[in-house]
Amino acid sequence: MAAISVKDLLARGKSGQAARVRGWLRTARHSKGVSFLDVTDGSCLAGVQVVCGPELANFESDVRKLDTGCAVEVEGELAQSQGKEQSLELRAAKLGVIGWAGADYPLQKKRHGFEFLRTIAHLRPRTNTLGAVFRVRNVAARAVHRFFQEKGFVWLHSPIITASDAEGAGAMFRVTVPGHEGEFFGKPAFLTVSGQLEAEIGALALTNVYTFGPTFRAENSNTSRHLAEFWMIEPEMGFCDLRGDMALAEEFLRYALRAVLDESAEDMAFFDERISSGVRATLEHVASTAFAHLTYTEAIAALERSGESFEYPVKWGVDMQSEHERWLTERHVGRPVVVTDYPKEIKAFYMYANDDGKTVRAMDVLVPKVGEIIGGSQREDRIDVLRARMRESGLDESHYDWYLDLRRFGSVPHAGFGLGFERLMLYLTGMANIRDVIPFPRVPGYAEF
Ligand code: 4AD
Ligand code: MG
Repeated sequence: MAAISVKDLLARGKSGQAARVRGWLRTARHSKGVSFLDVTDGSCLAGVQVVCGPELANFESDVRKLDTGCAVEVEGELAQSQGKEQSLELRAAKLGVIGWAGADYPLQKKRHGFEFLRTIAHLRPRTNTLGAVFRVRNVAARAVHRFFQEKGFVWLHSPIITASDAEGAGAMFRVTVPGHEGEFFGKPAFLTVSGQLEAEIGALALTNVYTFGPTFRAENSNTSRHLAEFWMIEPEMGFCDLRGDMALAEEFLRYALRAVLDESAEDMAFFDERISSGVRATLEHVASTAFAHLTYTEAIAALERSGESFEYPVKWGVDMQSEHERWLTERHVGRPVVVTDYPKEIKAFYMYANDDGKTVRAMDVLVPKVGEIIGGSQREDRIDVLRARMRESGLDESHYDWYLDLRRFGSVPHAGFGLGFERLMLYLTGMANIRDVIPFPRVPGYAEF
């Protein structure tokens, strides 16, 4: 008999049917003449209750010694569980122990703090919460690809090692080879901070492309919203302006919310109940309402009028801090908001300059509890303006001749954005710390596993 996943067993099994499952014990309860095992294989949140009696050949020798963490294989018959209505249990006819776990197994029944769980990131996927996080992460990643694939976007594999600094501002990890004489790649190389510039190459040939892969920032920020290694989704569209870019960002975010609500219903109910009360209702609401829109100038005016005492004072020209972003989305509009047309001084050199001479066609999407989730812009496609901006920003033109070529040969308006995948995960699950929505977080001072 082939083994069946716990998920399939619970969804499709019928009372009276024979079944075989494999998994780990979340708990073992031994009472007089009977043992109840809660077996999970990570395929879904719920475990299956396995009931073992003295008729099992190894009841005394094995079953009675089973405890949390042990791996087992069980064959038996499905039956309606007596305790829980509409739930199936497996009455064991044969049980094999695949792997024992001793009393020093760190995940005993009690609830553990996320901070402690990070120190055992090799075992934390076995907990309810982290298991749910990684299943939702998978569903969200699948939704990302499905969204763009259905729209005809080409998945472009931008490089991880790069010689260009996409954002035109430090914070990069150097790639070097100890003992190698000179530069391995013939020039200084880095871990990419963004696949955008390469995505622009793609958009000026294939029209609609997206990247989805790891990116790296050597910022020394120890916050619950920053990682040194995070995944980013970066669509880039040829023949597109800021308006089209904003429309895509909004459509995409709504699609991702809808997908997770529909396809991760069990895990989302868990997050709603145990992690962030009301998260499902919020996502349902957002999935069906238009985002708010503000220009940077309007946003600053609202912040100045707010009467709040912010840690960082606001005035036109400052880079908004997370406290400002959160006030705008949580208090001012109470839903996701797209902020556009930022001062050129605080944005990257490649953003399209507005006629006012002061602002650029940038947009950030801010959402409650997380703050900035998306950053994007229309790109400067006019070569003279771009050259001037590069000079202003102190960039060495000779490093960017290929980027300028794109403006010399068949230049077209184009635009795109970057969505931080872990920020999206925070928003979807209501988890509080970004280190708990990626399997192996990398932050200053920490790169275990
Ligand atoms: O706003 P950012 O820096 O924009 C870019 O990288 C552009 N090149 C994107 C583009 O236009 N193609 O980063 C984009 C998003 C942010 O909005 C945020 O969600 C996420 O990436 N992000 C981080 N996520 C986790 N840890 C960090 N250190 C992050 N830095 C940015
Ligand atoms: Mg940004």
